[in-house]
This record gives sequence, C-alpha cells and structure tokens, in this order.
Amino acid sequence: MRRRDPARPPAGPFARIPLGGERSVRLYCEDALEALPRRAPHPSVVVTSPPYNRRVPYASYRDDRPRAEYLAWIRRLGGTVARLLEDDGSFFLNLGGSPSDPWLPWDAAREVGASLVLQNVLHWIKSIAIDRGAAGRGERSLALGHYKPLVSSRYVHGAHEYIFQFSHRGDVPVDRLAVGVPYQDRSNVRRWRRPASELRCRGNTWFLPYGTIRLRARDRPHPATFPVELPEWCVRLHGLGRTRQLVDPFVGIGSSAVAAARLGLDFVGFDLDAGYLEVAAERVRSELAAASRSGGRSAPRPSTGAGAGSP
Ligand SMILES: C[S@@+](CC[C@H](N)C(=O)[O-])C[C@H]1O[C@@H](n2cnc3c(N)ncnc32)[C@H](O)[C@@H]1O
Repeated sequence: MRRRDPARPPAGPFARIPLGGERSVRLYCEDALEALPRRAPHPSVVVTSPPYNRRVPYASYRDDRPRAEYLAWIRRLGGTVARLLEDDGSFFLNLGGSPSDPWLPWDAAREVGASLVLQNVLHWIKSIAIDRGAAGRGERSLALGHYKPLVSSRYVHGAHEYIFQFSHRGDVPVDRLAVGVPYQDRSNVRRWRRPASELRCRGNTWFLPYGTIRLRARDRPHPATFPVELPEWCVRLHGLGRTRQLVDPFVGIGSSAVAAARLGLDFVGFDLDAGYLEVAAERVRSELAAASRSGGRSAPRPSTGAGAGSP
C-alpha cells in the first residue's frame, strides 16, 4: 500500500487501469470535494453513496459530525457537483435513513436541492417478501434478499434506501427500458397502447439484493457498500450512449468503478482510505480479467454490496 504525505496531494492517481482507447479507471486517494474540480471537471454521470453520518466504522473517516455540519458538507457536495456536471448530466445520490432517524436522507437531499433539481426518487429495495397469493404463480411465498434481525419493540426492519436522481433542470431524458422488465402479461402491451416492446418500465422500486459472502474481511472489506448493479442501472437509466464519464466521489472499495469497467466507461473515483482503493483496483482488474476470459463480455454476477446503511 502506498503511503502519502497528507499535506501534499499526490501528483497522479493512486491507481490507473486502462480500459482501451482514451478510457481508464482512475482512483485518487484525496478529499473528493477538494479534488473533484481538478480531477473530474466535466462528469456526465455522478453516482455516489456518501457517508451517512451514522457512526459507520470506516477505516479513515469519522462518521459522526454534528448534524448541521454534516448537512452543510452535503450542500457543498451538491454545489460542487452542480458546477461541474455536464448540461444534460445526472447526479444519482444514494442515501439511507435508520428507523430512529428516517429524515436523514430527505434532509440531505434537500441540501443538494439547493443547487440541482430532484428529477426522480428511486427506492433501492434490499429485501422483500411476496406472499404466494400476491405473486400469483408458483407454489410458495417468497422472502428474498438480505435480512438482518433488529432487536426493537417499536421499529420494523429497514429494507430499503433512496437513490435521488438530480439534474440541472429536472428534464434529462431517461432510458427507462434500458432497465426495463418483461411484461408478465403481453395483453397489457395492447391495453396500454404502447409501441410494441417486450419490456415495460421497471418503475421506481429497484430490487437489488446483496450477494452472499462467506468471509467479510476477504469478500467485502468495507462496512457500507452498494451492489455493482446499482451504479450500473443508474448509468443505463441515464443513457449509456450519453455517458462519457462516470464519477464517484466516495468510491469505497470500488463498486461503481467495477460498474464502469463492466460498461467500458471512463471513470474517476475518490476515497480517503488507501486500503479501500487497493481493494477497488483489485476488483476492477478481476472484473476485466473475467470479461476477457469470457470473450470481452462481462457476465452478470451476484453483487458484492452490503448497503451503505446497514450491512
Ligand atoms: C458509503 S461509503 C462508499 C462505498 C462505496 N459505494 C462502495 O460500494 O464501496 C463512503 C466512503 O466515503 C469515504 N470518504 C469519506 N469522506 C471522504 C472525502 N472527503 N473524500 C473522499 N472519500 C471520503 C469513506 O472512506 C467511505 O469509504
């Protein structure tokens, strides 16, 4: 692991992994808010999960600021992204509350709303139970996704987080069918008088369960990740063809960097912790090696996420 003098920002990236042509994954061990304008002056899409100020035990960052200070910092993040984001760009901000602090994501989103327009609110569903009658098919009820028991006499288990899509004017065209789902009943295609398509809009509930891991220290050495599919779907919804560069100011162990490698997108990411960036770089290299073994196609695979809120 490379050591750096905290007083002097490094001249180059912590890691640079070529993707072909001009594109690469660049990871910087720098304060994102300081470094963003210098390292990523014109992002097309920003997808990120910042610290939630919920005392998560990160390796280098203390996640327990006074609330007002934290919200001012998020406001600064929103202002910085707004100044840099391409005119038709999107900023996807993943935030989660807790049963005892459900306002936090909305308080933080409001701060970003000072600089950008809230265009879509997506719900990242981490686990869901579908009763047999409601599912309408199959033999049994389904209980899918991660479940972490909660000891409480007043709260129910939190099973979702938010993904707020911000844009400059709230009018960025979205490619809904790029993350669409097949019609369960084809007769609905005629009923809704839609142009013939096998797919319909997925809506604003995205079921993205965590991948199963055996050993946290080896398989997911970070306390608050999101699944690779989360940034991947955000980019697809924004429009892959319109995405020149993907940026994640708080890259952690690189879930968004892996998504960029999978999609062949130029990428810039930041984290304060060199250990996390080491893992991020390794994950990107593994993704590229796996894609190369399968003839250039990145195979869909279980996510390695743990959820920024509650792992
Ligand atoms: C919620 S985690 C992101 C996890 C990431 N989405 C993943 O899947 O691996 C937030 C990250 O922000 C980093 N961080 C906190 N303050 C930062 C700052 N000012 N600049 C860059 N990174 C920072 C923390 O070290 C932590 O890894």
